[in-house]
Amino acid sequence: MENSPALLTIILFLAISLFVVPFASPSPQSSLSKGSSLSVEEDSDILVSPDKSFTFGFHNISNNAYSLSIWFSNSVNKTIAWTAKRDVLVNGLGSRVTFRKDGALVLTDVYGTVVWNTNTSSSQADQAQLLDTGNLVIKDPQGNVLWQSFDLPTDTLLPTQPITKNKKLVSNMAGGSVSSGYYSFYFDNDNVMKLIYDGPQVSSIYWPNPDYNIWQNGRYNYNSSRYGVLDESGTFQSSDRLSFSASDMGAAIKRRLTLDYDGNLRLYSLNNSTGLWSVSWEALPKLCDVHGLCGRNGICVYNHTQKPMCACPFAFKVSNLSDWSEGCKPKFNISCEDSQQLRFVELKKTDFWGFDLNHTSSVPLNACKAFCQKDCSCVAISYKMGSGDCYTKSALFNGRTVPDFPGSVHLKLPLNFDTSGFYVLQGHEPICNATRATAATPTYAANTGSRIKWTYFFGFISAFGVIEIFFIVFGWWFVSKRGTKPTLMEEGYKLIASQFRRFTYKELKKATGNFKNKLARGGSRAVYKGVLEDERAVAVEKLDDIISAKDFWAEVGVIARINHMNLARIWGFCCERSHRFLVSEFMENGSLDNHLFVSDHSSANLLGWKERFHIAVGVAKGLAYLHHECLEWVIHCDVKPENILLDSDFEPKITDFGLAKLADRRRAHSKISKVRGSRGYMAPEWALNLPITAKVDVYSYGVVLLELLMGSRASDWKKMDGDDEEEEAELELLGLVRMLKVKLGGAEDSWIDDLADTRLAGQFNHRQAAVMVEMAISCLEEDRSKRPNMDTVAEILNGHYEEPYCHGDHSYSTTNLE
Ligand SMILES: *[C@@H]1O[C@H](CO)[C@@H](O)[C@H](O)[C@H]1NC(C)=O
Ligand SMILES: *[C@@H]1O[C@H](CO)[C@@H](O)[C@H](O)[C@H]1NC(C)=O
Ligand SMILES: *[C@@H]1O[C@H](CO)[C@@H](O)[C@H](O)[C@H]1NC(C)=O
Ligand SMILES: *[C@@H]1O[C@H](CO)[C@@H](O)[C@H](O)[C@H]1NC(C)=O
Ligand SMILES: *[C@@H]1O[C@H](CO)[C@@H](O)[C@H](O)[C@H]1NC(C)=O
Ligand SMILES: *[C@@H]1O[C@H](CO)[C@@H](O)[C@H](O)[C@H]1NC(C)=O
Ligand SMILES: *[C@@H]1O[C@H](CO)[C@@H](O)[C@H](O)[C@H]1NC(C)=O
Ligand SMILES: *[C@@H]1O[C@H](CO)[C@@H](O)[C@H](O)[C@H]1NC(C)=O
Ligand SMILES: *[C@@H]1O[C@H](CO)[C@@H](O)[C@H](O)[C@H]1NC(C)=O
Ligand SMILES: *[C@@H]1O[C@H](CO)[C@@H](O)[C@H](O)[C@H]1NC(C)=O
Ligand SMILES: *[C@@H]1O[C@H](CO)[C@@H](O)[C@H](O)[C@H]1NC(C)=O
Repeated sequence: MENSPALLTIILFLAISLFVVPFASPSPQSSLSKGSSLSVEEDSDILVSPDKSFTFGFHNISNNAYSLSIWFSNSVNKTIAWTAKRDVLVNGLGSRVTFRKDGALVLTDVYGTVVWNTNTSSSQADQAQLLDTGNLVIKDPQGNVLWQSFDLPTDTLLPTQPITKNKKLVSNMAGGSVSSGYYSFYFDNDNVMKLIYDGPQVSSIYWPNPDYNIWQNGRYNYNSSRYGVLDESGTFQSSDRLSFSASDMGAAIKRRLTLDYDGNLRLYSLNNSTGLWSVSWEALPKLCDVHGLCGRNGICVYNHTQKPMCACPFAFKVSNLSDWSEGCKPKFNISCEDSQQLRFVELKKTDFWGFDLNHTSSVPLNACKAFCQKDCSCVAISYKMGSGDCYTKSALFNGRTVPDFPGSVHLKLPLNFDTSGFYVLQGHEPICNATRATAATPTYAANTGSRIKWTYFFGFISAFGVIEIFFIVFGWWFVSKRGTKPTLMEEGYKLIASQFRRFTYKELKKATGNFKNKLARGGSRAVYKGVLEDERAVAVEKLDDIISAKDFWAEVGVIARINHMNLARIWGFCCERSHRFLVSEFMENGSLDNHLFVSDHSSANLLGWKERFHIAVGVAKGLAYLHHECLEWVIHCDVKPENILLDSDFEPKITDFGLAKLADRRRAHSKISKVRGSRGYMAPEWALNLPITAKVDVYSYGVVLLELLMGSRASDWKKMDGDDEEEEAELELLGLVRMLKVKLGGAEDSWIDDLADTRLAGQFNHRQAAVMVEMAISCLEEDRSKRPNMDTVAEILNGHYEEPYCHGDHSYSTTNLE
């Protein structure tokens, strides 16, 4: 048997693998014993319920923000059933949840700060376990439950999880956030379960139907036990005799009762083969019945596809297109003193709920109008034709237009109110004139989703704010405690601790010699040169006194974490009383405009071609880093030569993140409401009111590229004779781009010589110049979706270094630039 050794080996191997395999993939645990913990960095650090339907662990909300949650293992996008500390997100590094030896389950952020604690430390806690119901419990050795997540519901109620006297479901903000929104599902003081909108301006109950009493709504208010529960088969029952069932009733289906971000309470069933949820019951079949969706004077309407949207009534305009909860504001004034001539304009099939001054029945319409006319505080009437019900309104909230509503609203307007040329807003399209619509048609506008998304976006930012402040505070702490060496910190935080710090006003005053040496750059902001105690030369930038602490923190938080060779390094900041300063590295060579737009031709300042191309590549890399690589994606919003600094080696460094906005990468359509940036460099979408994306920087970069090539300001490209200089300049740029497009397509390339800066006297690289033109015109596309991303631009330009670039001590080659 020659081959028996081989056979033996195979058999041995099989035998070993039989034993090894079960150990290779241990099934995830369902409980934590004392002293063990789950870490945010480890994907396998989770608890899974014995039947595998629920998972407990860290949930990635955005790139560096995590929540400690329980989710449905089987759902396509992790559907969160519970979150530990709802409005606080923890860091993606160093955070952990520990079942401490003393029996408390504790969530700690990086640096070990306690974020959340079950407070079970003095008891007999023995283990923390995730049950098949989705309940996380802490038990004593006898199996008694000492603490359970079922007692602290967030926006979701699971089968067998009771809702009682002091518990309520609170909706999330929209967009996958886990922070609390404005809607609640709870037992009211009258023992009846209700849905309430509790917003920043007003609050009101919208379910059960607020126009009916408890009996008419089929509820019962004499049972004060206040207890409700969804059973395994999908039926909910509560002590106020609210009862409803899932349309797919029966056991063995995973369900959840969730108060959604839009204010509707829905019962969902999970299809466990697809991982998708379907609605098997909802409290409000018509979403416009939810209060608070469209703000003051706003109206919720169904568009042709039955999608609920917000609109402003005739004679009102939207207050803030980015935030519908701010509603609509009137385009007219009504004064009470003089006997102003008034009239009423009807909004058919519309109602505003609440804020009634007076209710009168069986009155004719004219009498109803007369009540309102007499009463200065009355802004409108709601009138029902058949019954003659007349409601005078002191304010207009919770508006909706529904086809079957049996009444209408009559708005009180001045008689002389001009009805011509009013605006129609639709979605995010530019504002444009509509042909005269009938007064009864509300003007349509952005759908309700956009308001909700906004709220989410800001909730999200403030959550980050908390984290940022946290980092910075710890940054100083480590600096001020000289010698306390951070141990558990990741590279980036070390950097913050060692290099980024807070300066006192006194220190800066001393460094700058009482703010004597003001630098030329900076535009609206004053920048001073200074020398620190350790002899570092710094630029000290004074920020607007009126900048609020919150904005300041946001700004500092962003820049503290930015680190790239083509971005100006920020050493620290000062925030004392009304003083706000940023301290950054001092750049020997000042800003790009000083070198590019110098008027005298022999100037020693004049940039050579190699430097220009290198600056083009460097700026592209810096922007690519801002847009695509750093922790939170930043849109600069004000790319221009003044904001490009040059160090002693003419390495470009982008500065001024004052206008930087955090942008969440997943939401390509992050919106910025205020116009920012500088004339001549601003992308067309600013003027068109479109959502602002990183593509505005791409556009501005395109302008800078042409300026590098041509050595002159875009705004000087044509001598102006009209008054409207800006408009002319923009048209000129358009014309130039169009012309270059044609030329680039042609075979001839001598036009590049005409285009290039004459001061270069022909000393430039044609191939590089052509690539720059090509990049510039694609960056200057009107349609931002056609503009390339900054990383693409950087890559293409970087591929066109003709020869190793040498300047000063640095040397660069085509392959390795950094
Ligand atoms: C977290 O989520 C963000 C976007 O949602 C994603 O870019 C990132 O890679 C995720 N991080 C991890 C560690 O999964
Ligand atoms: C899951 O999330 C992705 C990305 O956010 C989204 O595109 C997709 O529609 C979601 N799927 C479901 C079923 O919600
Ligand atoms: C633990 O106690 C603290 C302080 O009383 C409280 O703020 C916190 O909500 C408690 N934690 C839980 C999970 O109840
Ligand atoms: C009150 O409600 C509880 C919980 O639903 C129920 O068990 C109890 O029988 C009710 N009492 C009365 C008097 O209806
Ligand atoms: C689950 O989804 C699949 C595919 O859509 C469908 O065929 C199936 O009927 C669904 N199951 C249930 C229980 O709804
Ligand atoms: C769906 O869930 C049931 C009950 O948990 C289970 O028996 C069944 O195997 C699941 N089906 C699939 C496709 O996962
Ligand atoms: C209705 O809403 C849908 C979904 O947002 C949208 O695609 C459609 O254009 C809207 N229709 C009108 C008339 O606004
Ligand atoms: C519009 O709403 C956004 C988001 O809530 C807010 O940041 C902004 O300041 C508002 N704009 C105005 C003019 O009130
Ligand atoms: C209404 O009156 C206020 C103060 O008198 C004024 O500022 C505002 O411009 C007026 N609005 C209109 C639309 O006339
Ligand atoms: C309500 O309207 C009636 C007229 O029907 C009037 O008599 C009464 O004074 C009004 N009440 C208030 C509080 O304005
Ligand atoms: C809008 O309508 C008004 C009045 O009808 C008109 O004066 C104005 O020129 C129009 N604007 C545009 C951009 O069409």
